[in-house]
Amino acid sequence: MTHPAFQDIGACVFDAYGTLFDVHSAARRASDALGDKAAAVSAVWRDKQLQYTWLRSLMAAHADFWQVTGEALDFALAAQGIEDAALRARLMELYLSLEAYPDVVPALTKLRAGGKQTAILSNGAPEMLSAAVESAGLDAVLDASLSIEEVGIYKPDARVYQLAVDRLGVEARRICFVSTNCWDAHGAANFGFTVAWMNRFDQQDERLPGAPATVMQGLDELPGLLGLD
Ligand code: LAC
Repeated sequence: MTHPAFQDIGACVFDAYGTLFDVHSAARRASDALGDKAAAVSAVWRDKQLQYTWLRSLMAAHADFWQVTGEALDFALAAQGIEDAALRARLMELYLSLEAYPDVVPALTKLRAGGKQTAILSNGAPEMLSAAVESAGLDAVLDASLSIEEVGIYKPDARVYQLAVDRLGVEARRICFVSTNCWDAHGAANFGFTVAWMNRFDQQDERLPGAPATVMQGLDELPGLLGLD
């Protein structure tokens, strides 16, 4: 049954990293080299990557997500006492071909068959996004890939979310925004999107402004929310 908040949705907009793409698949695929440090490197890499986006936005010192991702990886490797330029290069290369979660293609296919626009709205630099989309075979199920590079500031700045409104031609409340990153779900809801927080990892809710309209465990729940099952 259609969820009341999602009755009049024109477009579904997705966060990329952590939501469509498994960011931890890079370190996992290099576990032959990282050994038992793989999980720790991956967790710190992701945490620092996000922190650096927020801090650079506050400093008005923007650098694109490729640079930020590399600097976060440098921190994470150093924290584990790893100094290995070839491994760094390999991990960065793997970030261009992250695995998509298995529920992505089936859900997006249903949404498009139901007449909804589908798009990515991500911190990712355009080249990173196109590489990941192509490698995961998501081209055919996405209408657009929007990068914050167009506005030069990171999520959760309102200019980022406005980009989706402007580029898709759909008003904010008619955009269903989906993110696994709880802070991004709150930011998008605070902006005015109708938000489904996809709590893939059973995380605690953040104490931040903006209330997601619903919480899902996986993308397979999304078409049903919109009445497309
Ligand atoms: C993104 C980060 C927040 O894709 O995961 O925008």
